Amino acid sequence: MTPTMELVKATERPLHGGVVYFDVLAWFHKFLNPKNYLEIGTRTGDSLRSVTCPSIAIDPAFQISEDIIGRKSILHIFQKTSDDFFRDHDPAILFGAPVDLAFLDGLHWYEFLLRDFINIEKSCRKNSVVVLHDCIPTNLYYARRLLEDLSGLSSQMPNPNWWAGDVWKTVAILKKARPDLRIHAFDAPPTGLVCITNLNPGSTVLEEDYYDLVQELMDTSQDADNFVSYCNSLTVRPTGDLATADRMARFFWL
Ligand SMILES: C[S@@+](CC[C@H](N)C(=O)[O-])C[C@H]1O[C@@H](n2cnc3c(N)ncnc32)[C@H](O)[C@@H]1O
Repeated sequence: MTPTMELVKATERPLHGGVVYFDVLAWFHKFLNPKNYLEIGTRTGDSLRSVTCPSIAIDPAFQISEDIIGRKSILHIFQKTSDDFFRDHDPAILFGAPVDLAFLDGLHWYEFLLRDFINIEKSCRKNSVVVLHDCIPTNLYYARRLLEDLSGLSSQMPNPNWWAGDVWKTVAILKKARPDLRIHAFDAPPTGLVCITNLNPGSTVLEEDYYDLVQELMDTSQDADNFVSYCNSLTVRPTGDLATADRMARFFWL
């Protein structure tokens, strides 16, 4: 089922009032000083350009027109899907160390983001930080599965071109299936940042239950109810909680 205008209105929440996600990512680099960084869904490189540590960038269709190397001593670029990347490569071997910081912003469908999380966690350490983009959309229109589905669009909709996809379901799955993870949500415009730590590279729960976990949320007729319960389950913190090294250290520590 596609979201109707009425369902979209019923799920509407205030737009995020924090600092845009690019700036929050810059804080992670500045305050945590990660030894390395992996990014899925690099596109133009806007979130990679100012990174200085050794990095891996993955995207099946890069649109790079400016320098993205900057001061990095090492930059691995993989023009392939994230599934293909993880099938063929181990980022911890490429870096010679576990991945410290990862930003997952590839295909906006939840089963893809779930696989990206499963795959990256294996190459992380306990304190590594995995940042998920687009998982706190502020209404069901932004959260629709299909970009081309405009059935929930009304003339009052702010930012009618926003599309977060249904990756919010990945966080709903992680909250249910992996209570051991520390999952923190922040009000970074446009569609939120979810930052995860206390990882367990040896965990097999998500992989073992993958098909059941995905199947449970595939029926889009339940999306409005599931989306509202998901939003109610989240404590969305102000991005200001990460704005200094001391504040960030309350949540994350590399
Ligand atoms: C929303 S854009 C990323 C924007 C970028 N991170 C930024 O903040 O400016 C999503 C990107 O994911 C890429 N993508 C699509 N399918 C993918 C897949 N299966 N694996 C990895 N990346 C994918 C697209 O090519 C696109 O460049």
